[in-house]
Amino acid sequence: MSASLRLVHPPEDLDSERWDAVLRRDASADGTFWTCVKTTGVYCLPSCSGRPKRENVFFTETRAEAEAAGFRPCKRCRPDRFLIGGVKDRIDELDWGRAHDALNTNGWAALGRLLSDEDCAGLINAYEEDALYRSRVVMRRHGFGEGEYRYFADPAPQLVSDLRTGLYEKLAPLANEWAKALKQDRTYPHDHAAYRRRCAKAGQKRPTPLILKYGPGDYNRLHQDLYGGEVFPIQIAILLSQPGRDFEGGEFVMTEQTPRRQSRAMVAPLEKGSAIAFAVNERPLEGARGTYRVKMRHGVSEVRSGARYCLGVIFHDAA
Ligand SMILES: [Fe+2]
Ligand SMILES: [Zn+2]
Repeated sequence: MSASLRLVHPPEDLDSERWDAVLRRDASADGTFWTCVKTTGVYCLPSCSGRPKRENVFFTETRAEAEAAGFRPCKRCRPDRFLIGGVKDRIDELDWGRAHDALNTNGWAALGRLLSDEDCAGLINAYEEDALYRSRVVMRRHGFGEGEYRYFADPAPQLVSDLRTGLYEKLAPLANEWAKALKQDRTYPHDHAAYRRRCAKAGQKRPTPLILKYGPGDYNRLHQDLYGGEVFPIQIAILLSQPGRDFEGGEFVMTEQTPRRQSRAMVAPLEKGSAIAFAVNERPLEGARGTYRVKMRHGVSEVRSGARYCLGVIFHDAA
């Protein structure tokens, strides 16, 4: 339903058109409005196979409105997984307030779905296209684990560069807060092109977005993706394969080391196309006696079967 259509119809007509779309289970209306079902407390896509009664239903324009009203995404039609527009629109639609809170509390945040099944398949299928990459790293040779990854060459495919520039802009304000809290004498520019110029000045000129490929028995030891003195403190991983179907095992794991404490382990639930943001190296943690410096590491547990592909988006470049 377009904005212009909204303007020419009074709201009662709009609601009855929406209800008609729900009765038809009209997939072409998916993403244009959201159906909140008062009896179940969930919100749905118009195409959902559920059969609510008219008196139990109202509509919202956005997912955020439905969630703010206390409704949860339906487990059947998964409105939370529905993608609208291009990558930039999808990034804009994420709940960045919640993501920043989670990053401050836990050092990582589940961002939700950013890539469609077609996007994921496209990236996986292009893994062997040599012209797209600047190098291939076989992890065993470096003692990093088992498996391999490839760094994209410049310019990266549009999808990857849209992710890198779009996500950077959402994370730079938090990176600046962290730098201040950690008393680091640095600020991050608000656009990624400017940040890449800074990396280049520091001698870090090679792009770092990468695709990692793990087969049975493969894993990635706990590590930090540091490539020189220039570090952007948050990075992104997007899973391209579906756990339980494309592969078994291969959990994304993180550890957090707080001064005078044992390490804490965390496992991020990921599904195909969904993203997490996490601290690369250090993050501030507000404690009773001031700000603590928390060290993070991340890795992947052993893949038991199948193939697990992941897109990594690191914002600093490499030397
Ligand atoms: Fe990594
Ligand atoms: Zn539903």
